Amino acid sequence: MNIQNKIFWRDQPHIENIGDKISIVGAGMVGMSVAVSMLGTGVTKNLVLVDAFGDKVKGEVLDLQHGALFLKHPRIQGGNDFSATQGSKLCIITAGVRQEPGESRLSLAQRNADIMAKLVPELVKHSPDTMILMVGNPCDVMTYVAWKASGLPSHKVMGAGTTLDTQRFKVALSRKFNLNPANIHAWIIGEHGDNSIALWSSVNIGGIRIQQINSKFGTDEDPENWMELHKDVIGAAQAIQELKGYTNWGVGMSVAAMAKALITNKLTIYPVSVNAKGRYGIEEDIFIPLPSVLGSNGITDVVHLNLNERELTDLQNTAKLLKQVQDTIKI
Ligand code: LAC
Repeated sequence: MNIQNKIFWRDQPHIENIGDKISIVGAGMVGMSVAVSMLGTGVTKNLVLVDAFGDKVKGEVLDLQHGALFLKHPRIQGGNDFSATQGSKLCIITAGVRQEPGESRLSLAQRNADIMAKLVPELVKHSPDTMILMVGNPCDVMTYVAWKASGLPSHKVMGAGTTLDTQRFKVALSRKFNLNPANIHAWIIGEHGDNSIALWSSVNIGGIRIQQINSKFGTDEDPENWMELHKDVIGAAQAIQELKGYTNWGVGMSVAAMAKALITNKLTIYPVSVNAKGRYGIEEDIFIPLPSVLGSNGITDVVHLNLNERELTDLQNTAKLLKQVQDTIKI
């Protein structure tokens, strides 16, 4: 008789109630930041890590498992084989080459499109009903590539978009107003990158639209020069890359928050990259960060923003730029 039988009368089989599976493709700095952020906030108890470098991902899985005592007893698996992702409710893609300091996200497009064109069909083969959350850069264009390669409906394929940019914007504004960023209502949309658009006209604090107080707020005629904050948001990633070589924590935590909304049907609004066709005068399949409601069925709603003329023009111009990049990509 083995020891377990001596310790327990096991009257009932154990049931593993570990919930929906989330798979992360890419166990690099960003992928591991997403994993730790999700495990630390209890987003999932059923996590799979996949990476081309088998030893690396197996080491990461073991290391995470040793922290399970401090987590909610999650099942953490991984390897370099996509079969482990079988039946995923959500697949988060962080794989791909990353920017070197001074390199633009858009310059990564073809190299990462080649990677996505191979890995996305593998994911969908094992999880035909999955949602895809794209993190690899250039995030918005890679979301388009993932959508094309997956054959999934648009509402199930999204990119991290400008969630991180918006957080950076809120943090910058919160320092100016000495407030918790959660109380700053502001959006960055358009592109996760150098062509993002700050919606100054809708920035509001405590229900007060700032442009009601300073009509030039955020414009180039603004004597207080608030638009500098948007320039800081655009330059944030490069500033960090020059200091530590890469970014990972901000994006990891923001992706974990979006994953939580998707997995727990929180119906929370995030500016994820969505198919903008038929919105704001955009008539083609272009994935653009727009505030959207996230739930267990993916993107349930896209917010119909009240953009002023300048904001609408900027959005349409950024859409044209993203379409040009999309059109250069061979999938
Ligand atoms: C950044 C990367 C995730 O903005 O693009 O930090």
